[in-house]
This record gives sequence, structure tokens and C-alpha cells, in this order.
Amino acid sequence: MNTNYPDNLKILYPKQEIEAAVIRLAAEITREYQARNPLILGVLKGSFIFMSDLVRRLEFPLETDFVQLSSYSRGTESSGKIKISHDLKSPVAGRDVLVVEDIVDTGNSLAFLADYLQKKNPESLRFCCLLDKPSRRQMPVTVHYRGFTVSDKFVVGYGMDYAEQYRNLPDICVLGE
Ligand code: IMP
Ligand code: MG
Repeated sequence: MNTNYPDNLKILYPKQEIEAAVIRLAAEITREYQARNPLILGVLKGSFIFMSDLVRRLEFPLETDFVQLSSYSRGTESSGKIKISHDLKSPVAGRDVLVVEDIVDTGNSLAFLADYLQKKNPESLRFCCLLDKPSRRQMPVTVHYRGFTVSDKFVVGYGMDYAEQYRNLPDICVLGE
């Protein structure tokens, strides 16, 4: 898809800015994880493009896995009730686990996942999020690695969707009315 977007899409972070953020995050993560063979755990589906760009800039031994959560959502609002719809396959006990997420909004998903993963006794557990919307937080979560802080806008592209559309946009866009 090219970047001649329709009128309801406004570019918030063009792909060059996203790439710069990924490079910065990869450098931070490399400093702390390069000798630890971490498990890099992507949260499907929203993180799939971010995850693939990020891990290709982590030039040290690591393993990858994915988990998918489902929240009973209505349109752009999520209800806060979360369950695992696709479980990870990798053992977590004693591992350094780094969760890769597209966006932290209310915090309900990451709070649920933190609780779920902590019960499996990882050596360490941290969260890397491309976007953070702190103004919308309902549950406290610690984001260790953050790409961008955004205000309360609904964004799509670079893996993120509205009703499963727009994940393929190369830029992060605000979805208008
Ligand atoms: P939570 O409210 O922090 O639990 O956010 C859960 C999930 O909602 C995120 O991981 C995203 O997949 C999705 N989400 C939240 N805000 C947006 C947005 O602005 N655009 C697309 N997806 C979003
Ligand atoms: Mg997500």
C-alpha cells in the first residue's frame, strides 16, 4: 500500500520515525539482554510487524514465541475482561522474558499478562511497547521500553487495526471520523 491515504487517515508517525524508534529500543534491549538468551514474546496480532522489525535488530541469541489475548471489545473500547486465546509454547520458568506489545492503553491486557506470566516463575519479566497511552490507564503497569507516548487518539497501521483493517499501513496513522 502507498501513503496516499484516504481522508480519514492522518499520519502520526511516518515509517522513518518508527524505524528510528525501533533502532533506539533495540540498542537499549541489547545492552541488557545480550548475554541472557531471552524469550521475546510477541502479543498477537498487533505486535507482529513491530516484533519482526525489532528482533531483526537484536543481534544476539534469543528465542521467540507468541501469545494472543482476547478482550471482549466493542468497537474501539475494550471491556477489560481478558483471556488467553492462543497460549505460548515455550517454558518460562527461569527465563528472561521480554513481552513485545503494540500499544498499552487501559493496561488491562498487560496487567493480565504480567500476572499470568509471573505465575510461571520467569527469571525476569519486562514489557516493550511501541506506543503508550498513559492518559487512558486503568491498571498500573510498568513499561520498561517505550517507543512513543501518545495522547488519547485511536491509531492504526504498522500492525495495529480497527476491525481488522489497516494493519498493513507502513506508517502509524490516526483514524478519524
Ligand atoms: P489495553 O486497553 O491496554 O488492554 O489495550 C489492549 C489492546 O487494545 C492493545 O494491545 C491494542 O491491541 C488495542 N488497542 C488499544 N488502543 C488502540 C489503538 O489506538 N489502536 C489500535 N489498537 C488499540
Ligand atoms: Mg495488542
